[in-house]
Parts: sequence; structure tokens; C-alpha cells
Amino acid sequence: MKALVTGGAGFIGSHLTELLLNQGHEVVVIDNLRSGRLTNFNAFNDHPHLTFIQADIRNAQEIRPHFEGIDWVFHLAALADVVPSIEAPRDYFEVNVDGTFNVLECSKEAGVKRFLYTASSSCYGIPDQYPTPETAPIRPQYPYALTKFLGEELVMHWEQVYKIPSVSLRLFNVYGPRARTTGTYGAVFGVFLTQILNNKPMTVVGDGTQTRDFTFVKDVARAFLTAAESSVSGEVLNVGSGNHYSVNRIVELLGGDSINIPKRPGEPDCTFANTTKIEKLLGFKAKTSFEDGVQQLIDTIEDFRDAPLWDEESIKDATKTWFQYLS
Ligand SMILES: NC(=O)c1ccc[n+]([C@@H]2O[C@H](COP(=O)([O-])OP(=O)(O)OC[C@H]3O[C@@H](n4cnc5c(N)ncnc54)[C@H](O)[C@@H]3O)[C@@H](O)[C@H]2O)c1
Repeated sequence: MKALVTGGAGFIGSHLTELLLNQGHEVVVIDNLRSGRLTNFNAFNDHPHLTFIQADIRNAQEIRPHFEGIDWVFHLAALADVVPSIEAPRDYFEVNVDGTFNVLECSKEAGVKRFLYTASSSCYGIPDQYPTPETAPIRPQYPYALTKFLGEELVMHWEQVYKIPSVSLRLFNVYGPRARTTGTYGAVFGVFLTQILNNKPMTVVGDGTQTRDFTFVKDVARAFLTAAESSVSGEVLNVGSGNHYSVNRIVELLGGDSINIPKRPGEPDCTFANTTKIEKLLGFKAKTSFEDGVQQLIDTIEDFRDAPLWDEESIKDATKTWFQYLS
């Protein structure tokens, strides 16, 4: 198949690109390199079936020609940090909502066979039910969560009206090699690994007993491929690991000193996907154990040498708006 991956130079997108190439598919990556990196392609850079296009999904004219002849569209390009979404909601709306509109319209015009959208479990906010099913109420707590959900609504509407066979995958907390470490305070693994490299204590939010459904990135890439290969359409599916793990467990597995910093408002004490639906409709189940996944990440710790180093003070400063708006 000929696949197009938006955001393919990013963390998850690069693993999906690698999997598609390994499976013998042709891949066109569209990415503006805002948080993605060409070094994420190091393992498969000179693959003859890989084409990289540096383009912005906000610009329909720029991306349109690259949809010609595409069978599968995997739409992963997005702005994905929480704090900047509170500070610059317009940016998030333009990329995550208008950008998704452009990608959908180009897909429609090109008559693509399958459309796979990357949604986020953040749409559930602080859920009442664990493990959380797809039918749980939608309660976005910040603009990132809202814009990703609006993108999903667009995809489902285009599926219904224009009959583009589509699936939306609601990802939980994805982790693994090449994890995103933007200049913005972000995902826990990148923060901790960089602190370890610099002999600084890991900054545990709250008492560290909060749990997350950490799903290994290669399992997530496989979920996308399985969804593309299926004939399921018009469905929203959770992608989770089948379990949930505490931040204290991460500290234990990584080993090293830690300190505790204030708990943040608007964050759930637990994220845990109910994965019954994806198992039933796609026969998909995550395979990587948490211990194994964390080890694979530790094996790439040197990649985090250039990532921003956070400490209690800089985190306090970087998350000011979080406390200001979400309290
Ligand atoms: N990492 C997670 O735990 C997680 C959880 C739920 C959903 N998601 C979703 O998965 C997708 C990938 O996230 P990720 O964690 O790999 O982050 P990432 O930042 O590494 O990937 C996003 C990619 O999109 C690109 N991009 C951003 N704006 C663009 C634009 N205007 N035009 C073209 N490309 C653009 C970036 O350069 C980057 O390569 C996102 O849609 C995100 O919302 C991630």
C-alpha cells in the first residue's frame, strides 16, 4: 500500500513509519518539523520506499499534491503539549482542528481508501469509570484535549457524510524510544531520563501514586497498522496497554533519587483504558510488558542528552498557567 503519515517525523509517527516500511509499504511523511526530528529516521533513513516532505498541514495547497495515489492516511501531526495549549489556544486550534480539516479534505479529494486518526484519552478528563470505555462522557480539561476531540468529531463526520472509511484511535500515555522532548515541560519519561543523565533528582508530581496506562510505542504503531488493514469504519477505539502503572514504579525501574513537586489541577489520578472494543473489533492486544518497554527506553538514554533539563524551579515557572487556569 502507499501510506501517508502526517507527523511522521515525530515520536509515534516515526515508529509507525518504520513499521510500515518493514511491512513492505511505501511511505510519504508530511511533517513541518515543529517538534519532529529527522534524526528519528536514523534507523531507516535511506529506505528506498520513504519520501519525506517538509510541509505544514495548515497549508492545504502545500500538502494537497502529496495525497495523489495514497491508499492509507495516518493523521498524527498535531501540537501535543498541555501548557502551551492553554497559553496559545489559537495555534492548537489551527493545527489540530483546521489542520485536520485540511488533511480530511485532501484525503476526500484524492479518494483515499482508509483514514486513521490519532485521538487522545485526554478527552475523558477525570473519568468516573476505570478502566474507561469509549462511551465515557467527554470532558476535556484544557485546549489540547478539546482540539484533539474536535479533530476526532471532524473525522467521524467526514466518514458519515463523505464515506471515507475511518477509524479514530484514542491513545493513552505512549512511551518508548524517541519520546518527544520539546522545549516545553512535557512527558514524564523524557523529563526523568534527562534528569538521570545530569545527576539530578527525578521530579515526581504529587506523591507519585497516580497511575497511567503507559502503552509502548511499538504496540501503538501495530494498532494503527491493524486498524488500516481491517475493514472497520466509523469507530472510535481506545488503545491501551491493558494495565496502569504508578509514577513511583517508573522511579523504581529507572533507579535514582527523586523529589516530590506539587500535584497539578485537572489531571486524573488514574488513566486506564478499557480495551475490550479494540480486542473485539480488531483482535488487537498490546504485547510489551512495562518492564520490557522501560528497558528498551533506558537502552536509548543517550538520545536524551540534548533534551531540556527540568528542575523544581523551572517546572514551577513553566506550569504557572496550568495552576492559574485549571485550579
Ligand atoms: N504521546 C502520547 O502519549 C500521545 C497520547 C495521545 C495522543 N497522542 C497524539 O499522537 C500524535 C503524535 O504525538 P507524538 O507524541 O508523537 O508527538 P510529536 O510532537 O513527536 O509528533 C507530532 C508531529 O507533528 C508534527 N507537526 C506539528 N505541527 C505540524 C504542522 N502544522 N504540520 C505538519 N506537521 C506538524 C511535529 O513536527 C511532530 O513531528 C499527536 O496527534 C498526539 O496528539 C500522543
